[in-house]
Amino acid sequence: MSGVTGHALSLVGVGKRYGGFTAVEGVDLSVERGAFLTLLGPSGSGKTTLLMIIAGFVEPSAGAVLLDGRDITGLPPEKRQFGMVFQGYALFPHMTVAENIAFPLRVRRMNRAEQQRKVRAALDLVQLSAFADRRPAQLSGGQQQRVALARALVFDPALLLLDEPLSALDKKLRAELQEELKALHRRIGRTFVNVTHDQEEALSLSDRIAILNNGRVVQQGAPSELYEAPRTRFVADFLGTSNFLRGVVTADGRVQAGETLLRAAVPLPPGSAALLSLRPEKVRLLAEGDRAANSVAGRLVSWSYGGAAFTLMVETRDLGPLRVAMPAWNAPVAPREGLAVTLGWDADAAVPVIEDAAAAA
Ligand SMILES: Nc1ncnc2c1ncn2[C@@H]1O[C@H](COP(=O)(O)OP(=O)(O)OP(=O)(O)O)[C@@H](O)[C@H]1O
Ligand SMILES: [Mg+2]
Repeated sequence: MSGVTGHALSLVGVGKRYGGFTAVEGVDLSVERGAFLTLLGPSGSGKTTLLMIIAGFVEPSAGAVLLDGRDITGLPPEKRQFGMVFQGYALFPHMTVAENIAFPLRVRRMNRAEQQRKVRAALDLVQLSAFADRRPAQLSGGQQQRVALARALVFDPALLLLDEPLSALDKKLRAELQEELKALHRRIGRTFVNVTHDQEEALSLSDRIAILNNGRVVQQGAPSELYEAPRTRFVADFLGTSNFLRGVVTADGRVQAGETLLRAAVPLPPGSAALLSLRPEKVRLLAEGDRAANSVAGRLVSWSYGGAAFTLMVETRDLGPLRVAMPAWNAPVAPREGLAVTLGWDADAAVPVIEDAAAAA
């Protein structure tokens, strides 16, 4: 593994308006040297706009972009020296793989020998040395994507910007390239900013994730922090799957939902309305005599088999339908419609979240 050679990036109060439409608003973000940041959000949430602002192709209407603390907001893209990979890999079809990768070096008028040395190193990095003389049309989608990556890395960019580089690939290939991207990031120690709307990709690749909704960063943090402690209903729902339990906080800090009393991860102010996020994999089926901090009886209404786990839908009286992930190997019960079950979960599995309308106010 090489040392950290990347740069620190921060955005301060960044906004972008198109006429009366706000595409991005009030974005404060920072990425440490050599870290892997992912911008995650639904379609239209402002991910590409933000990446284009970082790259210098879109001028922000407000705020500043800082590289190692230096304001680069007004710096043209070619002076930023960032590597970029876009969705759809746009390689030059008439050039060979090696010529494609050499292109940024030619533009920079690097001498021939040096170009060849760099291209060979970049080909090695993405494991395509045997394909140097092919044209893009003679490569698979994943190989083309790796050429695009090599082309973005060949000039030792200060920062690598990736806009859904893997989204056009099938699931298996995408998973493979995710692994490669992660290994590559570790090997070269550069700062990466990746855009995706694939939550698993975000969780597995990133040091840090910023979740966007309607042009705003609604929460940012380490993947496990966002998954385990979502602040809002949107975050809990967008990153993974969640049940939402509604109730009112009692004098002793529990949450009353119908006749069911629940214990949550943290104490809540008595008398307030509570919304709790509960992940399906944190709910278990209780056998006769098993105890849990929280339990509720219900009836299995439907299920689906997913290989590693069953997803059960259990109808409960006080909490409505609950989704439960039950490991399929040595499953405690065989799912069947109408089966009476008792569900249980620990107090710290139920995380209070804010309704998004309240979060925005
Ligand atoms: N040049 C433009 N003029 C007007 N509106 C724009 C322009 N570019 C983007 N927008 C709008 O800004 C919003 C954010 O767009 P952006 O491309 O950043 O979304 P995104 O998060 O990358 O979405 P996707 O996942 O679909 O790629 C969208 O509503 C889009 O229509
Ligand atoms: Mg986009």
